[in-house]
Amino acid sequence: MSIVYLDGSYLPMAEAKISPMDRGFLFGDGIYEVVPSYNGQMVGFAPHIDRMNNGMNAIGIELGWSHQQWKAVCDSLIEKNGSGNLALYLHVSRGADTKRFHAYPEGVAPTVFAFAFEIPPAPVADKSKVVGYKVATSRDLRWERCQIKSTALLGNVMHFQHGYQQGANETLLYNERNELTEASACNAYIVKNGVVITPPLDNQILPGITRYILLDLLRKDGSIPVEERTVTMDEVFDADEVWVTSSSKEIVPVIEVDGKPINNGEIGDVWLAAQTIYSAGKLNY
Ligand code: PDD
Repeated sequence: MSIVYLDGSYLPMAEAKISPMDRGFLFGDGIYEVVPSYNGQMVGFAPHIDRMNNGMNAIGIELGWSHQQWKAVCDSLIEKNGSGNLALYLHVSRGADTKRFHAYPEGVAPTVFAFAFEIPPAPVADKSKVVGYKVATSRDLRWERCQIKSTALLGNVMHFQHGYQQGANETLLYNERNELTEASACNAYIVKNGVVITPPLDNQILPGITRYILLDLLRKDGSIPVEERTVTMDEVFDADEVWVTSSSKEIVPVIEVDGKPINNGEIGDVWLAAQTIYSAGKLNY
C-alpha cells in the first residue's frame, strides 16, 4: 500500500481524501511536478521545484514553501515507499472553496498532495536494450500557455489518447504553421547531420527539466552541437533521428512517425552518445 502526503499528514493512499469542492477537482486549477528518483537520489530536484514555483506565481497560488520543505516531503515518501525507481508526483491546487465561482478565492489554503509511483529503471545507453517509440502526430490543439505545468491536462490526455488508440507510444504535436511543438507528455527533438535540434522555449511548450539537463550537459560536453530553433514537420519526417524526453523516461529514440520509419527504423548513434552523456551527468542536477 503506498503512503502518500496530503496537507501535512502521511497516510495510506486509500485514506487520502479531498473535498469535491477542491478547485483542482472542479477546474483543474493547480500546478504539478514529476521528479524522478533512482535508489533514493532525485534527478533535477531544484529545477523541478523552481518550475513549480514559476507555475504557482503565474496563476497566483501563494504556498511559500522552501526547497527544504519540498525536499523533506520527497525524502519521506522515498523512505516510506522503498527507494527503487520512483517518480515523486507533487501537486498544489488552489484549494477547496465553499462555492463554485471562477475567480480566485481569497483566504483559501492550497491543497498539497504528493505520492510516489514506480517507474522503469533509468535507460542504459545501449542500443540493444532500448525500445524505440512509434509515434502518431496531431495538430496541437491545447491552450497558449503550455509553459505552465497545469494540472488541467485534458488537452494533453486527448492528444495522448489519439496516438494510444492507434497503437502509438506518443503523439507529436505541430502548430498551425506545421511546426513541431512537443509531444503530449514529452519534449521533442530531431537530429540532422549530427546536430541536435529542438524547438525553442516559448508558450507552446513545457520547459522540460530533462530538456534543460540534456542541453546543458551536451553544451558542456561539446561533442554534439545543439540548436534551439523552429523545426517543421517536414524536417521531422526527413530527420536522421527523432527523440522525445521526459523525467520518467530520459531520452527515448523514436523509430517511426505516422508509420514512416526514421533512420530506417534503427536506433541512432547520436542517441547513444547523448544518452551516455546524460546517464553520466544527470545526478549533478
Ligand atoms: N510530463 N512536455 C509535456 C507536455 C509534459 O507533460 C512533460 C512531462 C514534458 C517533459 O518535462 P520533464 O522533462 O520536466 O519531465 C514535456 C510528465 C512527466 C507527466 O505529465 O507525467
